[in-house]
Amino acid sequence: MGAPGKNDYLTEHVKQEVPPATPEEQAELDAMYKRMDEIHLKPLWTQIGGLMPNHPEPRAVAHKWDWAELLKLAQRSGKLVPVGRGGERRAIGLANPGLDGNTYISPTLWAAIQYLAPGENAPEHRHSQNAFRFVIEGEGVWTVVNGDPVPMKRGDFLLTPGWNYHGHHNIATEPMAWLDGLDIPFAYQMDTGFFEYGTEKLTDESTPDLSRSERLWAHPGLRPVAFPGKTSYSPIGRYAWEHTDAALNDQLALEEAGYPGTVAPGHAAIRFTNPTTGGDVMTTIRAEFHRLRPGASTTPIHEVGNRCFQVFEGSATINVGDKTFEANHGDVINVPSWQKWNIIAGADGVDLFCFSDAPIFEALDLARTFTPEGI
Ligand SMILES: [Fe+2]
Repeated sequence: MGAPGKNDYLTEHVKQEVPPATPEEQAELDAMYKRMDEIHLKPLWTQIGGLMPNHPEPRAVAHKWDWAELLKLAQRSGKLVPVGRGGERRAIGLANPGLDGNTYISPTLWAAIQYLAPGENAPEHRHSQNAFRFVIEGEGVWTVVNGDPVPMKRGDFLLTPGWNYHGHHNIATEPMAWLDGLDIPFAYQMDTGFFEYGTEKLTDESTPDLSRSERLWAHPGLRPVAFPGKTSYSPIGRYAWEHTDAALNDQLALEEAGYPGTVAPGHAAIRFTNPTTGGDVMTTIRAEFHRLRPGASTTPIHEVGNRCFQVFEGSATINVGDKTFEANHGDVINVPSWQKWNIIAGADGVDLFCFSDAPIFEALDLARTFTPEGI
């Protein structure tokens, strides 16, 4: 294919009024484009459609990762691949089929199943990328964050904000798997990442029921006077399941008693927050938990940014763009930017963990939503 012709980027209306290029004009055009190419220039008029679409046209596609399949492969890797310094973690990333084979679930977010066999340690390190863990099942692992051992149990949501040293150890007789989420793709594409090794042996191998961060910060509505001011990320290392579960139960009970509380009929939801600001737990990642009564549904919505769900209990039909997914325990589903999505809970209702990159776009004033059917 030769260089673009004189009329190739004109609208149909203008094209009709402009005569096609003469052979001499075309030769000049060819020479101009060739020179631009040689010195690494790209004229906007050959790019505009892809660079500035009328609305977001994500390359990421909506996809479902089946938990049973993920767990099976994690178990196999547990037998075949040791965990330790160098590889650092036995984590298997969820690679969006639309993102050229990169281990990105979205252009900004990374999600993985991490698997630790009994007695195994994942050595300490730190990185500027923000991370969380969500525990879909099991217990017996402690994550040590800056020397503070944090227990991991079913339903818990744990934070490892950027530049905090962290490692994991499994003292149980059973292996354990959980979901890791990070902003690795965002850091990689923006060239903001830093990484350092810590100790190979964990700095504290004790196994307390509560982390020190929870003892200091996780009492409802109460903050320690010794630590005033705002922090950019939440100081709470673990949001225990018992609190999440109780908050959701109470929202639905209040709704039943005729009081406000739910976001929509039959739809309870909480957002994990930073107690020093009331905002998101980390600057790049939002995390929420949603509970829908049997048959309840959410309003279809378009949103700027990338959202991911993991089914905790129950089942749901999740519509994303023109795709429909049937999701059960542990399944992970992503919603690419601006693709319309909604959830319809199954016969037993559904509990869903949810994370997104919304804080990035809200901070930059780029967030936008559209509900075609109204709210
Ligand atoms: Fe890490």
